[in-house]
Amino acid sequence: MLRPVITIDGPSASGKGTVAALVARELGFHYLDSGALYRLAALYALREGVSWEDENQVARLAAQLPAAFHDDKVWLDGHDVSAAIRAEDIGMGASRIAALPSVRAALLERQRAYQQTPGLVADGRDMGSVVFPRAELKVFLTASAEERAARRYKQLIAKGESANLLQIQQDICDRDARDAARSVAPLRQEPDARLLDTSALTIDQAVNQVLQWFRER
Ligand code: DC
Repeated sequence: MLRPVITIDGPSASGKGTVAALVARELGFHYLDSGALYRLAALYALREGVSWEDENQVARLAAQLPAAFHDDKVWLDGHDVSAAIRAEDIGMGASRIAALPSVRAALLERQRAYQQTPGLVADGRDMGSVVFPRAELKVFLTASAEERAARRYKQLIAKGESANLLQIQQDICDRDARDAARSVAPLRQEPDARLLDTSALTIDQAVNQVLQWFRER
């Protein structure tokens, strides 16, 4: 177990990013937010005037993504895009381009390069199934659609943005459906992944459960 990997996959707004980042911090491991790469590729395509439907061109951009993660920020071409990649339309764009096989292939090695000592926590949709199939611990983290919509709603309101709970719930269901129905690397629980339903858990409880599973190994 030289460079152990913990994968945390699950649907949008499940809180997996928050849990994954805290588990990584607790263990002193590296952290890969793979969704951010898909979001960056969607934003990059938009800024370069490339349609999200144009598989070859989006894959070309994804392969040469001038992206970096440092100082708790996400950078594209030297610009801080931490807030821009979290916009709802970019999330939808990320979900669209993520259904294109050559885009996924273009991002594969970049994701694997994050496996470095002392270890890695990676979150996304296919971390345990495709990117790190031999991970030491695989978690499928989810929560009910109602709970996820309520959490996203609270986040938006806290940021001072306007939000419509029913619309958010509809968007979450649409995104889940697309992420689960696509033919490449669909969102689903792997047979060897532990199920963590956080609907009734606090963030701390979810983090502690993952740490406990990892230490039990
Ligand atoms: O986790 P997120 O909401 O930031 O991800 C944005 C989109 O990217 C999501 O709708 C599906 C896609 N994605 C993916 O297909 N595979 C991953 N490993 C991570 C994200």
